Amino acid sequence: MKLILVGGTPGTGKTEVAKLLGAQLKRRVVALGDIAKSNDCTREHDSNRDTWIIDEDCLVDAIMDLLDDSKDDFIIEGHYIDLVPSRSVEQVFVLRTHPDDLKQRLTQRNYTADKVQENLESEIYGVCQLDALNSFGEAKVFEVDTTELTAESTVDEILSIIKSKESPTRYDWMADLEDEGRLNDFISDA
Ligand SMILES: Nc1ncnc2c1ncn2[C@@H]1O[C@H](COP(=O)(O)OP(=O)(O)OP(=O)(O)O)[C@@H](O)[C@H]1O
Ligand SMILES: [Mg+2]
Repeated sequence: MKLILVGGTPGTGKTEVAKLLGAQLKRRVVALGDIAKSNDCTREHDSNRDTWIIDEDCLVDAIMDLLDDSKDDFIIEGHYIDLVPSRSVEQVFVLRTHPDDLKQRLTQRNYTADKVQENLESEIYGVCQLDALNSFGEAKVFEVDTTELTAESTVDEILSIIKSKESPTRYDWMADLEDEGRLNDFISDA
């Protein structure tokens, strides 16, 4: 049984893209957030960060149970994809979005200013991509820049990566913003 993972900072489009990718590949899509909820792995609400704390050991156990119970290939999307055991993972797609665009997408969600800022910094530093590289290695981790794409064209891009044997493209918003002299606009202590 083989897995495709879809990860990325909140607002990069994981849920929407994974749903469409699942329809194209005829694979079931599992959202890690749903697995955490249905297995009671969410702990307390961090009101400062307006986010739920996840018990990672609990989620890892729930993921293992899910893998043991599944015979068919499927897709897992969400925040904590780096917790999925690497040996079952075929390819990982980390969705990336330029900070200018991500700021708009997150602000439209009525996130607090702090939460927008936290997620923007995470996207600028490339936290999801670095976590994915640590867990799954260079060869399995592909980044897709969704900035100028729709969810549908993001899926087309993923399907073309799956078919081709090209090596992964890497994005570095921090270097780009630094080159443009704009890093200070996003990160207060830069
Ligand atoms: N290229 C794109 N791919 C996917 N979604 C996009 C794209 N461009 C804009 N969007 C929009 O971005 C929003 C984010 O979508 P989505 O909820 O799938 O993000 P997410 O990564 O699953 O976020 P979360 O981590 O909070 O679950 C949606 O409103 C979607 O329509
Ligand atoms: Mg989502």
